[in-house]
Amino acid sequence: MDKARLMAMHRAQFPENPIRSISEEYYAWKVYNNPVMAGDIHLEMRDGRTAGSAVVMPRKVANLDDIVLAAETADTFTVSEYRGQGINTKILGIAIDWAISHGMHLVYGPPNKANYGTHIRLGYKTCEYINWASLTKSLNPLRLASKLIAKIILGKQVQKSFRHLKHLSRRLTTRRPLQVPQNSSKHDFTITQIDRFTNEVDPLWGKTRYSFFIYRDKEYLNWRYSDNPDKFIVLAAFKGKDCLGYSALKLSNDKRTGILCDFVTMDDRSDIFLALVRESEKILKHNGAEHIALRCITDSSYYHDLMTLGYYNPGPKSYNPVFINARTEIGKRILENPGRWHFTYGDTDEV
Ligand SMILES: CC(C)(COP(=O)(O)OP(=O)(O)OC[C@H]1O[C@@H](n2cnc3c(N)ncnc32)[C@H](O)[C@@H]1OP(=O)(O)O)[C@@H](O)C(=O)NCCC(=O)NCCS
Repeated sequence: MDKARLMAMHRAQFPENPIRSISEEYYAWKVYNNPVMAGDIHLEMRDGRTAGSAVVMPRKVANLDDIVLAAETADTFTVSEYRGQGINTKILGIAIDWAISHGMHLVYGPPNKANYGTHIRLGYKTCEYINWASLTKSLNPLRLASKLIAKIILGKQVQKSFRHLKHLSRRLTTRRPLQVPQNSSKHDFTITQIDRFTNEVDPLWGKTRYSFFIYRDKEYLNWRYSDNPDKFIVLAAFKGKDCLGYSALKLSNDKRTGILCDFVTMDDRSDIFLALVRESEKILKHNGAEHIALRCITDSSYYHDLMTLGYYNPGPKSYNPVFINARTEIGKRILENPGRWHFTYGDTDEV
């Protein structure tokens, strides 16, 4: 049986991922059809069954002018009967060795609470100088406000509900000055939905400005958002033939959350980004989404723009660490030298 099928069968024993697939087709796409190069699924067999897993996904990461072969590690799952026996530490360790021996100079991944210890044992460190925040926005704030008030009255999730209500009331009562013209006819670009990325997307990054970003060329973006077994909607801003930016969206499995997975605009232009986000919101709302979720680096113009559109960070727990493995020289360099990142939900396998 091939490893994508074994991995999907193993993964099916754990809670589902509410915002993406966990099928055999998904693993075959994610690991083996990768245009950068095929990754690998590492499985630990015990008593004739799969007990643990870890996955390596090659990426190109741009570190200012350099483009380095890198790897995201993920899918660390150990069946409950076998936990605490060092399986994850062993299998993720093998995955990291595999990545380094196959030429990957940088190994990264966003950990969760459960696998934090394993990552630390294996040489990952939190990239302290970046704040990768979860942001949210209700597409129907009045309805959400009444739901939250009902929850508070019933004594359900009181603290969390108050936190959201505080942000919502600010949004409902603050009249913000318009930052950019709302009327798209005033823009020098148009926004259209595209099925596939073309060569025009390649110069999109404009001036070199990030010390870490997942390199997005046409091949990568088509694989990531057009050939993905999950359905994504991609909007692109064009001025004539020039592509000035894009946003990639999807719906959660229950269709209630719209996820703004990825975005970038030429030289981080705000007018293009704001127009893309407004159009993305319309499409997601039209498709039934009640709210939007996304992740963004706080020290970025995108974050500032999202604040002007009423997005908020719901609380202290909504900062997500990003781990870089300090075993490689480039990993160490990135950890030790603060710089600007562009890092979105779509830059990990979480969505
Ligand atoms: C997170 C997870 C993969 C850890 O798997 P595991 O095989 O139990 O991991 P390990 O045995 O290597 O380490 C777990 C604990 O066992 C202990 N341990 C580690 N090596 C050990 C060894 N050789 N012998 C005995 N105990 C050991 C440690 O206390 C460790 O705890 P810590 O990581 O908090 O420090 C597993 O708990 C899991 O599948 N959780 C649910 C799924 C999940 O959330 N996965 C992450 C999503 S990508």
